[in-house]
Amino acid sequence: MSILRIHHYPDPVLKLKAERITVFDTELRALASHMLETMYAAPGVGLAAPQVGISRRLIVLDCSPKDGDRQPLVAVNPEILAREGECCEEEGCLSVPEYYAKVVRSEKVRVRFQEIDGTPREIEADGLWAICFQHEIDHLDGILFVDRLSPLKRSLFRKKYQKIQEQRQEQL
Ligand code: NI
Repeated sequence: MSILRIHHYPDPVLKLKAERITVFDTELRALASHMLETMYAAPGVGLAAPQVGISRRLIVLDCSPKDGDRQPLVAVNPEILAREGECCEEEGCLSVPEYYAKVVRSEKVRVRFQEIDGTPREIEADGLWAICFQHEIDHLDGILFVDRLSPLKRSLFRKKYQKIQEQRQEQL
């Protein structure tokens, strides 16, 4: 197991459209377990391969309650088949440290993906799982949660984030 380096906005790898995965080998399996380890260590509830600098369509999630058992989920080539309802919850992102904002998302989603061995699977997600799926799948298309804010909020984000980055630089 190893902890991977998380790439931060505005790293260009975060803006790429990630490539579809066609080979389900031990390398892919290792990447998924390193990503899970990295996500739990952060800690976070989701992580997409582009966030660790790998532009491939792989995400890992675990939105189970903090005091319960872990429920790691690995999704290869995930896509949203159907959406229902609307919600607006505060989100953050391991690639956009120390910034949080409310984002409008679908309340429920039906997601199709492949398991780590290539087995096709479909699930219905709601609550935090639904939000997390949408957030992580966005990463595979080069979209960050801040891209979904209104133009005004986004310009406020840029100013605030610049300050956050300057402070981080001073701490290093
Ligand atoms: Ni994110």
